[in-house]
Amino acid sequence: TVPRRARRPRRGPAPEPGPPVQAGSDWTSWSTYDRAELGFRNHWYPAVWAHEVGRKPVPVTICGEKVVLVRDDRTGRIRGLHDRCPHRGVPLSLGRRQFPGTISCPYHGWTYDLEDGRLAAVITDGPDSPICGKVSVATYPVEERLGLVFVYIGELSEDGTAPPVEEDIPTELTENTLVLGGRNEIRDGNWRFAAENGFDEGHAKYLHNTALWRLFKVMPTWNKTRIVERDGWLIRVQDEVHWEAEFPGVGTFSNKRWWKRMPLPDRPGKNGDANPVIAGLDLPGFVSIRLPGILRVAYPQFIHYEWYVPVDADHVRYVQLMVRFETGLKAAAFKAKYLGAIRWLFHGQFTAQDAWMVDVMDSPPERLYRPDLSLTAWRKHIEDSDVVVQSVAGRGH
Ligand code: FES
Repeated sequence: TVPRRARRPRRGPAPEPGPPVQAGSDWTSWSTYDRAELGFRNHWYPAVWAHEVGRKPVPVTICGEKVVLVRDDRTGRIRGLHDRCPHRGVPLSLGRRQFPGTISCPYHGWTYDLEDGRLAAVITDGPDSPICGKVSVATYPVEERLGLVFVYIGELSEDGTAPPVEEDIPTELTENTLVLGGRNEIRDGNWRFAAENGFDEGHAKYLHNTALWRLFKVMPTWNKTRIVERDGWLIRVQDEVHWEAEFPGVGTFSNKRWWKRMPLPDRPGKNGDANPVIAGLDLPGFVSIRLPGILRVAYPQFIHYEWYVPVDADHVRYVQLMVRFETGLKAAAFKAKYLGAIRWLFHGQFTAQDAWMVDVMDSPPERLYRPDLSLTAWRKHIEDSDVVVQSVAGRGH
């Protein structure tokens, strides 16, 4: 089990006095990133698994916005409404499903159409209630992809539509047949710490040294890393450097196993038999990250993705997908392997170690070292991108 410690408030009163802070050791150099505690607007974020949404309303919080998800019994589609009754602010997710295509607030029975959020009936005000049609609850664009419910947080175009959800899903996942397994949970810590942990080069071989997954897969180490940007992804490229260091009393720390397996263009090695879809991606590196907070870890035969969805300042929805581009028997075999092993070893014990760090780490000041190039590249990428920070004022509708 993963050690836990009591949660410390991350906001509120000024931090306890401590030693002097070195200039430049906070996030003021990345002011957009610094403000992005609740993530970015105008993006699609995965919420719960689609099969979890039926007649019963499901409340979710994304980028600080409270949304209730309900499946419309008229069309079978999942709809998203602001989870707050305009009358007196009661969560609609506590409401009743009494009439087709509607949800009724549990307090006074204001009843909203799921499709457009319009107040369709007020049970307690009689059949001719004059307020009907004059009040609406805001709706959110919702789509089902990859077995997940994606919700759009942000502004709509003039014709009232959101950008296609495919813009926020890695292209290879929308263009190929695949089989997947996954986990979806809310974890402690701000989404930025989770994203940085995913792309952090220095931790993999050290923090995860005790993970069983490591017995089957080698872990990357610092190898003269360069970050390249391609198609919106930042890709961590590691040049071929083999090193070993002797630490008295500890032994030798070496990147030899990783170095031997590194997928280099002139030495495909283990990646020579890569799945055609993955080989077609022609990735120059093992780990990549992109907005609004998606990590891709490409193994030769399968790809692990993780989404870091801001919930609130102190919680992140961590969606893990393990994807194999196969059909038929090979797909079934992978599914069995996922459920029997990968789900527990990788999506369980291994990433629980990441969750532990994301939970206990403190906000800046910080003192970075060479492998943290991956973190600063990610922050700079956001500064250079055309993002709209989700602010407290921008929450809700
Ligand atoms: Fe919702 Fe009154 S608070 S109907």
